[in-house]
Amino acid sequence: MKDNLLLKVSNLDAGYGAIQVLWDINLEVKQKEVVCVIGANGAGKSTLLKNIVGIIPSFKGEIFYSDNNITKMASPERIKMGLGFAPEGRHLFFGLTVEDNLLMGAFQRKYDESVKEDLDFVYTLFKPLKGYRKKLSGNLSGGEQQMCAIGRALMSRPELLIIDELSLGLAPVVVDDLIDILAKLRKERGISILLVEQDVKVALDIADRGYVLEAGAVSIHDTTDKLAKNEHIKTAYLGIA
Ligand SMILES: Nc1ncnc2c1ncn2[C@@H]1O[C@H](COP(=O)(O)OP(=O)(O)OP(=O)(O)O)[C@@H](O)[C@H]1O
Ligand SMILES: [Mg+2]
Repeated sequence: MKDNLLLKVSNLDAGYGAIQVLWDINLEVKQKEVVCVIGANGAGKSTLLKNIVGIIPSFKGEIFYSDNNITKMASPERIKMGLGFAPEGRHLFFGLTVEDNLLMGAFQRKYDESVKEDLDFVYTLFKPLKGYRKKLSGNLSGGEQQMCAIGRALMSRPELLIIDELSLGLAPVVVDDLIDILAKLRKERGISILLVEQDVKVALDIADRGYVLEAGAVSIHDTTDKLAKNEHIKTAYLGIA
């Protein structure tokens, strides 16, 4: 796509049955870019990500990924094309081991050396997971569960990693570790990241650009430098009077 675009959401309307949640959303992610979506509870952030990943269908509008129109494509196809998703609430299979959860992320790949290499890569990235590989994921701490969910998303070798609520419920030191790891993924693997983050300060720190969702519509989008100086964002989201 033009201008190194990886993802383009164009005039998207979406919701659940008769309830419309998203209104005329336009959003872009360029190659190697980190983009955040911020907004209050119920603003439609998860609904937007679920549309992009194909978990729920849109009402209107189009989604393009790397020159392909993926609007009508099923979710597994989108994953195969290069989208990786770590959902809100992590959705791990608690009855399975850490390693089996990670392998679920590679379910569309043939189990070969490359899968083993990627497992090693995930264990290098998230060191605590290696020691717990035979442990049930339900017994992990919140931070370890988030590592496992992001690791699982990485097992499909995504070009675009989509994360819903990176830091929710996690201690600041764990969040710092995750932020470093995301920076490393971008630098060393060229992965682009689209993330929803309720901690607006964290979101503006990590991302290059951001979109503000208010009542299901994009109210502001800009570079994070400019968003951090925006008066509305300072008062409404950063608690700075
Ligand atoms: N499965 C569903 N069926 C019907 N309505 C839903 C469903 N999931 C979400 N909604 C509604 O859609 C709206 C947006 O929800 P969404 O989960 O996208 O918000 P969010 O911005 O992710 O909020 P949060 O910060 O609390 O995670 C809310 O009004 C919510 O009640
Ligand atoms: Mg949400």
